[in-house]
Amino acid sequence: MSNINNYLTENRERFEQELHEFLRIASISADPAYREDVAQAAKWVDGQFQKLGLASEIIETDGHPLVYAESPRVPGAPTALVYGHYDVQPVVPLELWTTPPFEPTERDGKVYARGASDDKGQMLTHIKSTEAWLAVEGRLPINLKFLIEGEEECGGHGISQFVEANRDRLACDCVVVSDSSQFAPDQPAITCGLRGIVYCDLILKGPNRDLHSGSFGGAVANPANALAKMLATLMDEHGRIQVPGFYDDVVTLSDKQRERIAALPFDEARYIEGIGVSALIGEEGFTTLERLWTRPTFDVCGMWSGYQGEGAKTVLPAVAGAKLSFRLVPNQDPPKIVEGLRQKLTEVCPPGIQMELVVQHGGRGVLVSEDSPYTQAAARAIEEAFGTPPVYTREGGSIPIVVTFCEALGVDTLLLGWGQGDDNAHSPNEKFALADFHRGIKASARLWEELATCPTKN
Ligand code: BES
Ligand code: ZN
Repeated sequence: MSNINNYLTENRERFEQELHEFLRIASISADPAYREDVAQAAKWVDGQFQKLGLASEIIETDGHPLVYAESPRVPGAPTALVYGHYDVQPVVPLELWTTPPFEPTERDGKVYARGASDDKGQMLTHIKSTEAWLAVEGRLPINLKFLIEGEEECGGHGISQFVEANRDRLACDCVVVSDSSQFAPDQPAITCGLRGIVYCDLILKGPNRDLHSGSFGGAVANPANALAKMLATLMDEHGRIQVPGFYDDVVTLSDKQRERIAALPFDEARYIEGIGVSALIGEEGFTTLERLWTRPTFDVCGMWSGYQGEGAKTVLPAVAGAKLSFRLVPNQDPPKIVEGLRQKLTEVCPPGIQMELVVQHGGRGVLVSEDSPYTQAAARAIEEAFGTPPVYTREGGSIPIVVTFCEALGVDTLLLGWGQGDDNAHSPNEKFALADFHRGIKASARLWEELATCPTKN
């Protein structure tokens, strides 16, 4: 390993330059205006694999392309499938960025750009560790398959269709994903659970045009008023979600699980300060980490209606809409949740309002093994690179494809996040610490060696 570590040290600056190059591509998957940029990011990733001499191809889907690459076969050795995404979230509100989102800029040892942490920087660590092995040893100790997608941030289906249809080609002993976070600065983590999600647009229509709120107000149903009223019925004062059947399949935490979460060194005061709120809220009877990792939620992600400009305009809007997200925990079934939601909203929709509920995407939550030989291998690699053993956590975010890996390929996923919870993923001024970038590469290089000692189905 020492030659490989030397190679990583000698090439630090070039790796950073390549990360900058990748970050300059505005691969916003949700916005059709950026389609070409998304395609360019796929080409960039494919180019990285080609340079390493891997068999790599760009695979077109109904949405954005996948990049798939395989390393030269090492007979008898285990196989890891590395997953990541090259697409990024939209960048609005642009005015809140200190430096432009697609002009990567370094400040205080961190690189600021959209996608720095989620997920370009984290994903690149596995490509650079592979480069180091091939450059120094001329071979890898295991078989690697890379599947990198461009629709993670917009809930696209291209990848799940590809995985379902290519089970043999993707056969592996474990999946490796770096698209989550460490527990805290200098406290790496192995994430053993992710929440699922249901995301819907709710659209309410009233009169056939915007009306004068004086001439018509009081006699005509106002879609904005209706929206506020309807949304308010979805959660009670105890933080419980009021959708029929919502909690039916939620698994209760065991005392042992609660103790393990409580034993983590969570600094709640620092968490509160970091997001600039005066207090935390949530479902009664649960701690903050339990709420974030193990309980389902309802959040409005966007709302629109009526006049948004300067000054006052007395108008009764014709339309109102909201974007709703429900984070789910393992065992909850997205279609069942949508059904319950539709039933509830239909019940509370007032006369004079027409309602439309459009499902954008959904995915189930997942739990992965905490004590498989692969997890232990990952823990050794992380301890070596970070100088600290990882803690075992869950996270509140979602990576829907992890469930498909589990079911279609029959393997667990190692969720090895090199990012930080305050990296501003999905927010203005997204960042990634260069120290974490380099430690991530080092841990990944070590991971290939540690995984080589694990059992294989080969
Ligand atoms: N990297 C995140 C997932 C994540 C977030 C893991 C926080 C752990 C902690 C991923 O890129 C993401 O944002 N996923 C979306 C999925 C959705 C669009 C289906 C999410 O969680 O909102
Ligand atoms: Zn994301």
